[in-house]
Amino acid sequence: MSPERPLPLSLEDPAPLLQWLSGTGPEPQQLDLLVLARAWVCAAIGASLDDPRARTVAERAIKLNDQMLQGENPDAIARLFSAGSPFDPNRFRTQWVNSFEKIEPFANYISRALIPEPEMEDTRLTIRYVIVELLRNAVQHSQAPAGGFVAADLWNKESGRPMLQLAVGDAGIGIPASLRALHPNLSDPEAALEKSLWPHISGTFEEGLTGTQQNAGMGLFFIAEMAKLTSGTLLIATRGATLLLSGWIDEAGNHSLRFIEPRGVGFPGTLVVFELPVGDVADYPALIETIKERAKQRTPQRAIHRWIRFDSAPPESTVFEIQKQAENTPAAIQLAQNEITPRILRREPIVLDFNGLRILTQSYLHSLLFEPLRLAWALRTPIHVRNVEPAVRSNLELLENYALAG
Ligand SMILES: Nc1ncnc2c1ncn2[C@@H]1O[C@H](COP(=O)(O)OP(=O)(O)OP(=O)(O)O)[C@@H](O)[C@H]1O
Ligand SMILES: [Mg+2]
Repeated sequence: MSPERPLPLSLEDPAPLLQWLSGTGPEPQQLDLLVLARAWVCAAIGASLDDPRARTVAERAIKLNDQMLQGENPDAIARLFSAGSPFDPNRFRTQWVNSFEKIEPFANYISRALIPEPEMEDTRLTIRYVIVELLRNAVQHSQAPAGGFVAADLWNKESGRPMLQLAVGDAGIGIPASLRALHPNLSDPEAALEKSLWPHISGTFEEGLTGTQQNAGMGLFFIAEMAKLTSGTLLIATRGATLLLSGWIDEAGNHSLRFIEPRGVGFPGTLVVFELPVGDVADYPALIETIKERAKQRTPQRAIHRWIRFDSAPPESTVFEIQKQAENTPAAIQLAQNEITPRILRREPIVLDFNGLRILTQSYLHSLLFEPLRLAWALRTPIHVRNVEPAVRSNLELLENYALAG
């Protein structure tokens, strides 16, 4: 790169900086100072200081920045501080966070510092949510010694619209490696990164389950949906892949999600950037409700067909006709204990026939299947069902969701 051309640093085109930090891009002679001040670049460089290999590059980036600030690039500084400059130094914060206890107080502090206006409470709560989830991920999953490095700023875009940028970086193992142990089919970093945005996908439990006591696999799903619902932008750069999700809808009515070129460009750890037009969130509770609804809609599609099977059973299966004792919960418990569970233990195929039953209560199905289902999961033995009406099927799906959550 020639000395005259600064390294472009825009969130829409993050590859040059990411490549440089990953040791695959050329060394720039200058950085584009105007945007270096933005949070995502600070988080990327700050977090890289915690990675033994990226550290030298990060230090070099800080040096280049300092040189420019000391007047070696009067042009850039003039641009930064020219009349009507969008940069507000009061609304810019960085911080390392490396323990769970520090997350909540810090999220409160930083969201208030950036958005003190009482009338902007919905926006403030949204970014608070994002900060908490991203820091929990950095602290819990990254294995990075220093934890997560947060940078956040508020910036008036050329359009005059204030944009909030929040970035959390860590120099850890990256999302694909964290998922790999329990998701051996996600060996491709792009596939792993894309999948991490799904509800109930987590490095702490296998696909088809809905959670452990600590994790539901919902953090990144919520953040991605927040970006979509607020015309925000989400960038996730991790070891081996970088994706950019735009909240704007294209002509076909879709949100654009693309992997950054050149393919394979990533970050020496994990860097998540969330950009939000300030004031775009008018109703935070409604936003959360919508996302919960979306999660519900998507969860059954993955969680079913795992241990409750709606497809045809092996011919030698023992069949239990549920109609004979429907809604009799003590009988359901007896059936579960005396007939169903022993067969699952012996890995014998069984079929529950729901013929003639249009509606069943959740508590009845719970009595019948909660324990058998958990056993079926533990022993990797399916429970086949047949003649299931739609309402009963959705009860079964809901049951499967939470029965396998613990
Ligand atoms: N900073 C990170 N470093 C390494 N892996 C990560 C990081 N962030 C996320 N992951 C991986 O992506 C998975 C999905 O993250 P997500 O936040 O959606 O779910 P979770 O943290 O497992 O559960 P929850 O957020 O509901 O507590 C994580 O389980 C982890 O495997
Ligand atoms: Mg999480």
